[in-house]
Amino acid sequence: MQQMPIERTCPFSPPPEYARLRAETPIAKVGLPRGEAWAISTHEGVRQMLTDPKFSSSRQNPKFPLLVDAPPPPDDFKPSLIVMDPPQHGPARRAVLGEFTLKRINAMRPRIQQIVDDCLDEMLSGPKPTDLVAALSLPVPSLVICDLLGVPYADHEFFQTNSHKMVGYSVDPHERMAAIGELRNYLDDLVSGKEAQPTDDLLGRQILKQREAGTADHDDLVGLAFLLLVAGHETSANMISLGTLALLENPEQLDVIRNDPSKTPGAVEELLRYFTIAESAALRVAVEDTEIGGTVIHAGEAVIGLTQAANRDPQVFDDPDTLNVERSARGHLAFGFGAHQCLGQNLARLELQIVFDALVSRVPGLALATSPDKLSFKNDASIYGLYELPVTW
Ligand code: HEM
Repeated sequence: MQQMPIERTCPFSPPPEYARLRAETPIAKVGLPRGEAWAISTHEGVRQMLTDPKFSSSRQNPKFPLLVDAPPPPDDFKPSLIVMDPPQHGPARRAVLGEFTLKRINAMRPRIQQIVDDCLDEMLSGPKPTDLVAALSLPVPSLVICDLLGVPYADHEFFQTNSHKMVGYSVDPHERMAAIGELRNYLDDLVSGKEAQPTDDLLGRQILKQREAGTADHDDLVGLAFLLLVAGHETSANMISLGTLALLENPEQLDVIRNDPSKTPGAVEELLRYFTIAESAALRVAVEDTEIGGTVIHAGEAVIGLTQAANRDPQVFDDPDTLNVERSARGHLAFGFGAHQCLGQNLARLELQIVFDALVSRVPGLALATSPDKLSFKNDASIYGLYELPVTW
């Protein structure tokens, strides 16, 4: 039986075993650090699983498939959106959905552009080579999410260190739980402050909205702040680094957006498909017997949607292992699918488009300052990415 997680052998491709699984056993039993699960590797199968309400996202279920051996969340841990099931999930998602509509996110364009320009001004006036992760990839999404939520950016080192510990596979489980606890305490205080004096930001608006509806719940808000803060910067940051690297390594693809910036949104979709950095989000437990692609998955069995394999499925994407920013990558599963599909996807897309356009127009001579095989990739974390990206210009 194939043991999970499987390491990549090439930084630009999913583990080679994924292609074999997809071709030979699209629904296969795999071993986990604790227990086993069904791994689904076709686009159709993963989509079906993610839209089927018979699969639960609750981490409290002892059968929940974990890719690292970690204790379940403590009982007093109030579940946040991403781990909720019906009937709680729908109303909780609708309560915050209005903050992430295309219209609301597009209104943030000037502010995001300003943040990107400020980061680039600082980078370009500093020494070279420099690390793009520290200069751009981390600060841009961090500043954006801090602005949106109303979290002081001055505390960014604290929450970046702690959220990094949450996604690292090699982090000691107790250290991971301590990081979660520290972040929660920090956000608990922050939300209390806003409850005393509501501010004009997402958290402040949620407080007022809940009060009007008579549903005020402090712990719910802390959970939401926690999820958005972590989901909002770790993911986009890694996509900025990996996307920049892939464009630098494929100059003919970079030229496509350099010559025609109207192609940047399509390039962003393709880069999202190509890397599919948040595969570990598609984990579930069947709550009733259900059939996927001819295999019956029984109630209580764990399931892993291999979204990286699904996004390289030749039935859906021609020549799937080639980066082609001009293809239509629509229908990729990098933001998940179904009820839990990424709430921040409009924001992530806009951040990535603004960053890549700004790099192309303001830093035309951008180049890698090391050989690609010296780069350190996050093979040991649940969100794929790069630790450092030395660049020059
Ligand atoms: C959910 C990926 C950026 C907030 C998800 C899921 C994926 C994902 C795969 C589905 C989880 C599941 O099925 O259980 C990504 C990627 C991003 C990104 C690849 C960047 C490139 C963001 C940003 C935010 C965000 C910027 C917020 C500001 C969320 C939230 C959920 C979610 C709140 C849970 C939605 C729910 O359960 O209803 N994301 N995400 N994400 N994401 Fe993102």
